[in-house]
Amino acid sequence: MNTHSNQPQLIDRFGRAVTYVRMSITDRCDFRCVYCMDEEMTFMPREQVLTLEEIVFLLRTFCELGVEKVRITGGEPLVRRNVDWLFKHVGELKKTTALKELNLTTNGSQLTKYVDSLVDAGLDRINISLDSLNPERFRQLTRNGDLSAVLDGIQAAKTAGFKGIKLNAVIMKGRNDDEILDLARFAIEQGIDISYIEEMPLGHVTHQRNESFCSSDEVLATLQSELTLQASIETTGGPARYYHVAGSRSKIGFISPHSHNFCDSCNRVRVTTEGRLLLCLGQEHSMDLRSIIRANPGNSDKLKQAIIASMQIKPKGHEFDINAQPIIFRHMSVTGG
Ligand code: GTP
Ligand code: 5AD
Ligand code: SF4
Repeated sequence: MNTHSNQPQLIDRFGRAVTYVRMSITDRCDFRCVYCMDEEMTFMPREQVLTLEEIVFLLRTFCELGVEKVRITGGEPLVRRNVDWLFKHVGELKKTTALKELNLTTNGSQLTKYVDSLVDAGLDRINISLDSLNPERFRQLTRNGDLSAVLDGIQAAKTAGFKGIKLNAVIMKGRNDDEILDLARFAIEQGIDISYIEEMPLGHVTHQRNESFCSSDEVLATLQSELTLQASIETTGGPARYYHVAGSRSKIGFISPHSHNFCDSCNRVRVTTEGRLLLCLGQEHSMDLRSIIRANPGNSDKLKQAIIASMQIKPKGHEFDINAQPIIFRHMSVTGG
């Protein structure tokens, strides 16, 4: 049994306790979603990427500092070789550290292959991106994705019985805003949750983000034309605001960094593939943890000191402006969101 007493140890200058780490294990992906990546992308050279052993060591250290929730992100996490080994070892941290929830965000394309090992590792929740139910449009939005593989992945996740399955849809005007209701109906039919996400200006992409921007309020109004939604106070410890759909077990979430800022209650940090601790998704304040890990192999004391010190540079919040040129040049695929 996990007898770890959990006193939050990571508190920032604004009194926010950091109990959630989003760990990007690869910046590579088998898709090229139009809002996430540019047509041509340069990926991190492999020697700069943390090894799987280094990732487990890093996550163990965070969980010894009171982190209760870890979400594995990418790029697409399931394209990393031996990812099942990683999940097994991170899952084991629930027995020895403060870790309570191990979650995954994925594009779903490789899920049928990995679902059994994810269950064995004790994965709790899974978020699967789904921006269209039309195969041709899906291929355009992802620049090569196969919708049927993702739908098979969603079925496999349902059969596996995770604690939570949530779809993520980034809604873009003129691209998929006519599918807002279809996507909700699909989630409801499947008995799973869905979040609608406002597009964020991270990195250069081929379209003008202010032209495709669709606010959560517009999405909500479209949904309310057909569905009865009841606002909920429920939270998954993330930024989504949830509504219950009357007569269904599905929840509908809205992630609205532009229209409903949630930075005051921020509880998370993220680590990039190359071991850079990023204190905010929308800012560049960061600390190079890889050099500390590589200079002190197997010794977590220095790493703990650095992580505790990093709390002093966690910024108050993002300054996203969809109408300006992006001030953050890294793409979402570098941080996994
Ligand atoms: P939980 O954290 O478990 O509730 O899941 P989530 O829905 O937040 O995670 P997921 O990886 O599915 O991310 C969904 C969207 O939320 C992505 O577009 C992320 O970039 C965005 N997101 C997650 N955390 C933050 C955050 O701290 N700030 C901002 N601006 N966006 C975030
Ligand atoms: N803005 C908002 N969401 C994004 N995602 C990727 N890029 C962006 C962006 N620029 C979403 C993906 C995935 C999650 C990790 O982040 O759709 O669901
Ligand atoms: Fe936290 Fe930054 Fe996200 Fe705001 S934008 S919720 S401060 S990570």
